[in-house]
Amino acid sequence: MRHSIVAGNWKMHKNAQETSAFLNELVNDLPNDKEVEIIVAPPFTSLLIATQQLEGTNIGVAAQNMHQAEGGAFTGEISADMLTSIGVDIVILGHSERRQYFKETDGTLASKVDTALRHNMRVIFCVGEELKDRESKQFQNVVYYQLKDALFHLPKQAWENIVIAYEPVWAIGTGLTATPEQAQEMHQFIREQIAHQYDQTVANNTSILYGGSVKPENAKEIFSKPDVDGGLIGGAALNAKDFSAIVNAI
Ligand code: G3P
Repeated sequence: MRHSIVAGNWKMHKNAQETSAFLNELVNDLPNDKEVEIIVAPPFTSLLIATQQLEGTNIGVAAQNMHQAEGGAFTGEISADMLTSIGVDIVILGHSERRQYFKETDGTLASKVDTALRHNMRVIFCVGEELKDRESKQFQNVVYYQLKDALFHLPKQAWENIVIAYEPVWAIGTGLTATPEQAQEMHQFIREQIAHQYDQTVANNTSILYGGSVKPENAKEIFSKPDVDGGLIGGAALNAKDFSAIVNAI
């Protein structure tokens, strides 16, 4: 069901000790009177610490990636079963850094999504165009194909477990933020594509998050847009005060 979500993608930051100290601070800082789902996505080595430390709180834990196979000879990889065995049932897939640096294609991502859903996990699926796509006015086309090739094979009921994160690549870690209007335009476009592929109910029930240089200063305006249901936060999620302020902006 569509609802507000603020998720922090820590990327390759915070070792075990830093995770523990940070989560203590976060639990104290976070508001608990907000109708918002709060999620942190630490690196693999901190997931167990996070699930243990956050047990009984209103903060969920997500992985930043996983492999599509059930298991086997895939040195260095982590499976869905390994994640759920430590209580992690949310996974971020399709982040632009995974696409760019690790050459993940929409085909691979479609398999990862299938595997995650088979394991009853929820997926935060990232889409977003590069600067050249925006400049050449291809941005909607690019995002449409990312959705189509990785998600539109799913049956309607699978969408209960899909959250979309729109992250324009040119706004990630650059300090450049999409304007609230640019975010709204793309979020509305994404919702329309889901409605077109499935129906209006599926589209209305899907949470769509914005990611890309969200900070306490700009969060409120972005979150106020009608099709923006929250954010996937990078840099600002590494600071407990900033992350809490962003949650408060919902
Ligand atoms: O997944 C979150 C992300 O890529 C945005 O990063 O640092 O621009 O907030 P940042």
